[in-house]
Amino acid sequence: MGSLDGRVAIVTGAGRGIGRAHALLLAAEGAAVVVNDLGGNNEGVGADAGPAQQVVDEITAAGGRAIADTANIADWAGAKALVEQSITAFGGLDILVNNAGILRDAFIAAMDEAQWDAVIAVHLKGHFAVLHHAAAYWKAQSKAGQPVAASVINTASASGTFLPNPGQANYGAAKAGIAALTQVAALELERYGVRVNAIAPVARTRLTLATPGMGAMFAAEVPAGEFDAFAPENIAPVVAYLAQEKCPITGQVFAVQGGAISALTGWTATGTIETDGPWQLADLAARLPALG
Ligand SMILES: NC(=O)c1ccc[n+]([C@@H]2O[C@H](COP(=O)([O-])OP(=O)(O)OC[C@H]3O[C@@H](n4cnc5c(N)ncnc54)[C@H](O)[C@@H]3O)[C@@H](O)[C@H]2O)c1
Repeated sequence: MGSLDGRVAIVTGAGRGIGRAHALLLAAEGAAVVVNDLGGNNEGVGADAGPAQQVVDEITAAGGRAIADTANIADWAGAKALVEQSITAFGGLDILVNNAGILRDAFIAAMDEAQWDAVIAVHLKGHFAVLHHAAAYWKAQSKAGQPVAASVINTASASGTFLPNPGQANYGAAKAGIAALTQVAALELERYGVRVNAIAPVARTRLTLATPGMGAMFAAEVPAGEFDAFAPENIAPVVAYLAQEKCPITGQVFAVQGGAISALTGWTATGTIETDGPWQLADLAARLPALG
């Protein structure tokens, strides 16, 4: 008996890295998995059906159920077709893991429009596009009197939440948006029986191995028999737990690395200054620096 027996999952960007590990564990726990991956390079250029199919082959060889999907999740129609494929092939959708991602790092003065647009499209629009089509399906199910106990797990990042990273204005803005989207979606979709959470993972993947200044840390060899704290497989159990029908958690963002899980909180007011009428510039000069 698996903890996800009878459930149907979509994992985006599941052909490699962290998403691949999610797909393998969800399938091992009994979920039927739609393995989505466009198969492009780190910057999102190109397409290759191979990575998604390889993960499907691994799952089926181990006795699980999976199909491949090569939609670009940043494409509205592609995201719709992905959700429809889950319903057609496996009879529904219970788990959505939004994970697909790319990087196009540059400092702001050097970042061009294409670098900004591509990263915002894959991460922020890509998360929303699949979430929108899944939410429309769950709303229709709920309105039709069908029980819904669905789970969405989004993928944020330290960059964009607790660790602003110079050179990643596009990526950090998208990931901060994903954390905010998670909180709004949790409040909106609860009425239909949908929980929405996010993770901010750290793991050794092609993206982190290619990150300037960090690649060497991720590439360092782990002595045989020791816990590999950067293995992508370390992230998947948190996702598999959040995906369970009985998991009570919603609206949360968890940082996950190795054996450590941290709960993150969003923006909070740390102090307030007030005036009885309009602010005078001199008052602000005297009081605002101490507040900020
Ligand atoms: N690796 C880390 O330490 C780390 C840290 C913070 C956040 N993340 C996030 O985790 C997620 C997974 O990253 P990873 O490190 O495993 O990278 P990865 O490159 O190994 O995997 C990402 C996968 O997404 C796919 N993909 C990219 N654009 C797509 C699109 N438009 N449609 C469908 N598939 C697409 C790629 O083909 C790739 O296989 C990303 O959202 C990333 O931002 C990773």
